[in-house]
Amino acid sequence: VTLNIQPDAEGLAQAAADLISEQVRVNPSLSILVATGNTPMPTYAELARRVTAGTVDFSRVTAVQLDEYLGVSDDDPRSLWGWMRRSFVEPLRIMRTVRLESPAQFAAAVADLGGLDLAILGLGPNGHLGFNEPPSPPGAPTRTLELTPASLESNAVYWGDLAVPAGAITAGMDVILAARQALLLVSGAHKRDILHTALEGPQTPDVPASLLRRTALTVIADGAAWG
Ligand code: F6R
Repeated sequence: VTLNIQPDAEGLAQAAADLISEQVRVNPSLSILVATGNTPMPTYAELARRVTAGTVDFSRVTAVQLDEYLGVSDDDPRSLWGWMRRSFVEPLRIMRTVRLESPAQFAAAVADLGGLDLAILGLGPNGHLGFNEPPSPPGAPTRTLELTPASLESNAVYWGDLAVPAGAITAGMDVILAARQALLLVSGAHKRDILHTALEGPQTPDVPASLLRRTALTVIADGAAWG
């Protein structure tokens, strides 16, 4: 595990954008699994600035959706596909995407890509990755599931007065752990306990993020999350 602690969320965004840009320079047709959520947004905004400035080119990258709620239409403000398009695909001028529509379609699309090169992930307050809720063993496949009360609560901050959908689909632990590289972004004091548990506690399905330690993992955290 490579651990990179930055003073603040802005430093985190710069460091994460540096790592992702470098990967894209080395392999312009990188396939990237893309988290939504609050943590990576400053990173994606920084990448968009670099694309606009012409210092990195994502036009051959494939962006792969990590998770989605069930039963939300494309124009629903809660669509994670919509959030991924607005924050990542469009500002980075990405031409190729894989949407997460069903377990079978997703598994075939990832196989066609030859697996994923980079997984950009956030850390759930309960240790979830994507919507791989605890417990999720390493072989947990891409699947639909019911969100736990903890995740319904942590997701509520995104949608104001709108309810968090109860059902979800997530890329499996199998797909995430098979990515050639994983980047876990962690920001804020509310993540401190789960970050230390994930990195220093047992590697267990009860803390899905702890299983990332078996992969080529870089963690970039800010001081509030590490401190
Ligand atoms: C979002 C996702 C979630 C979040 C996690 C942390 O696509 O997969 O697992 O990454 O819940 O969310 P934030 O970054 O909002 O704290």
